[in-house]
Parts: sequence; C-alpha cells; structure tokens
Amino acid sequence: MSSCATVTPSSAPLAERILLVGMMGSGKTTIGRMLAERLGWDYLDSDEQVCRNTGRSVREIFETDGEAAFRAEEKRALHQAVSGDQPAVVAVAGGAVLDEENRATLAQGGTVIWLDAPPEVLAGRVRAGSDHRPLLGDDAAAALERLDRERRPLYQELADVVVDAASKPANVVDRILRAIG
Ligand code: S3P
Repeated sequence: MSSCATVTPSSAPLAERILLVGMMGSGKTTIGRMLAERLGWDYLDSDEQVCRNTGRSVREIFETDGEAAFRAEEKRALHQAVSGDQPAVVAVAGGAVLDEENRATLAQGGTVIWLDAPPEVLAGRVRAGSDHRPLLGDDAAAALERLDRERRPLYQELADVVVDAASKPANVVDRILRAIG
C-alpha cells in the first residue's frame, strides 16, 4: 500500500450501501431512486458522477477520447461512490463490472444487487440514440445480446442478491427490500 493511501479507521462506522448492477435498461436508475426514497438514503449514479467530474457527457467522452478513457473515469467515479460515509443506493453503470479492480471495489463496497432481465426485455426499454449509451449503436437488440453473453457470468459471480428485473419497478423494489431484510 502506498504511503498516501487512505485507510478507514476500524472504529469508523461502515456506511450501509446498496450497489445496483445490471445491463443498460435493467432499471438501475428508476429502481435506485425509488429504493433510496423508501430507505431515506442518498442516491448516487456512477455515470452522473463521471459527468460531474469531467464536465462532459458519457457520449462525448466515448466519441472524443474512446472507451478506455471513459472506463478510467468510471473507475474514479465508482471509488467516490463507495467512499462516502452516508448510507446510499448506488446505480453502477452496466460496464463497470468488466474491470477486475472495480469488481473488488463493489464486492467490498456494500450489498451488490443484480437487476437481471433478458436482453429482449432490455431492448424494448432502451431508447435508440440514448445520449449516454453509445455502445448500443444502430442495433440495440444485437448489442444487448452480445453484452449480455459477455457480462452475465460477471454479474452472477458478484451478486449478493439476484432480482428478476423484468417486472414492474415497484415490485422489484419490494423484492429488494424483502431480500435485504
Ligand atoms: C455502459 C452503460 C451505460 C454507460 C455507458 C456504458 C455499458 O450506463 O455507462 O454507455 O457499458 O453497459 P447505464 O448502465 O446506466 O445505462
């Protein structure tokens, strides 16, 4: 560990944190906001944090500097999201799980909940040309199929709780609340 690393004193209370992971269109934002309201916790979103940190949109970063530059910003944003001392629900952008270090950050950062829905359901939800989802391209259904194949095992491995996210947001929120007790 480098001499400037920050270490949380063991006497400090650990913030309660729910980390929502899942594909684009799985409902992380909608469910996250509802859940945070029900719990009286903060709501955080890694994509929004990237925009705040850089002053640029996700699409702008992808188009100007490329995906790798976005992923570096995503990692920074994720660290910030799990470093707060207030209880929070965090919507974690869909691709953050691709990075091993991010997966460790998530595993240590709180209760990880995977909002699982099949790609064909996701395809019916995402808006073509959505400003913060350049990876969807012209054929969102095909892109979602491909990304789902690649990421499903990672979400599976990371999740403390798996919730069927194909149903209505209110039902999903109820299921999460029951699962976390
Ligand atoms: C991405 C998901 C998006 C956004 C970016 C890349 C991904 O966030 O971070 O377009 O790789 O799955 P949402 O999951 O919030 O849509």
